[in-house]
Amino acid sequence: TAETGSRRPVTVAVTGGAGQICYSLLFRIASGALLGPDVPVRLRVLEITPALGAAEGVAMELDDCAFPLLQSVDISDDAATAFDGASVAMLVGSRPRTKGMERGDLLEANGAIFTGQGRALAQSAADDLRVLVVGNPANTNCLIAMNNAAGVPAERFSAMTRLDHNRAVAQLAKKAGAPVADVERVAIWGNHSATQYPDLTHAVVGGRPALEVVDQPWVESDFIPTVQKRGAAIIEARGSSSAASAANAAIDHVRTWLTGTPEGGWTSMAVRSDGSYGVPEGLVSSFPVTTRDGSYEIVQGLDVDDFSRSRIDASVAELAEERDAVAGMGLLG
Ligand code: NAD
Ligand code: LMR
Repeated sequence: TAETGSRRPVTVAVTGGAGQICYSLLFRIASGALLGPDVPVRLRVLEITPALGAAEGVAMELDDCAFPLLQSVDISDDAATAFDGASVAMLVGSRPRTKGMERGDLLEANGAIFTGQGRALAQSAADDLRVLVVGNPANTNCLIAMNNAAGVPAERFSAMTRLDHNRAVAQLAKKAGAPVADVERVAIWGNHSATQYPDLTHAVVGGRPALEVVDQPWVESDFIPTVQKRGAAIIEARGSSSAASAANAAIDHVRTWLTGTPEGGWTSMAVRSDGSYGVPEGLVSSFPVTTRDGSYEIVQGLDVDDFSRSRIDASVAELAEERDAVAGMGLLG
């Protein structure tokens, strides 16, 4: 139609298409929530062979929505085929931890997936590729994919801490009795894990410093642990991990990356460290970032007090351990 045919279609590749996050995510992408209301979308979905039938079922439902922007849905169990021509790749599928599996086993199982997907992205994705890793352990899976995608600039890779960021915004707004839209400059540092550091030091609520609106004991004994453990709390309450909110954060992450952060504000993304704030270069760590037209910059010059320093260092130490483990398995190319 005239209103939807005005722009060139964009190819979006998504992995884990039969899973619970994708059951929300794919429909949001197809509706225009990711790329905007005038950009036609070609979806390419990667699943493992046993889940292809279930992924076909999701594709049938996508058909049944008659989304005006959705031009095609292609499903494959071959990564290079699924990533063909992709400008955006959202790597959601990963190997969940199952009974008896140690953390090292999980890193190794996912390492096999993300080495292969990194190579396949380098082989067949579009030149303007942007990658978001959602599947856990997201930072280290991203590190592996990035290191195996020869020729793709490291700046095109990111892992998701936007859900943590959104959780932090929501908790602060609720405590302050303010609308979420009044909250700015919350930051997530480090790993998408219980060691992450949700930082209110620079946050503002309705133009006032957040730390004048809420008290430090609440920050330390309520806010920080609530955000750090929110993923586990959702699993406990729902019986399975966050799905709609994770899909929403994935949409937010990519949309903000492509369109930009508001003037004076920032978001949180896990990206390759350039050594900023003493985070060892090469680790994929969450930082406050500004974005514009598909590029990002780590916010520079923030004061980091002793409390923040120790929290950042603890999460970064965990990232370094994960990196050393996967490097020891030969997964970093
Ligand atoms: P799920 O188990 O419902 O779905 C995962 C899907 O991925 C399954 O259908 C599975 O077949 C598929 N898959 C497995 N290996 C694959 C591969 N090699 N290629 C393609 N597909 C593959 O899980 P979910 O609830 O959708 O969550 C997906 C991941 O996202 C999990 O690792 C979860 O821990 C993670 N997660 C991350 C965040 C975050 O904030 N970063 C938040 C929520 C969930
Ligand atoms: C979340 O933050 O909700 C998830 O990463 C939790 C999980 O372990 O899947």
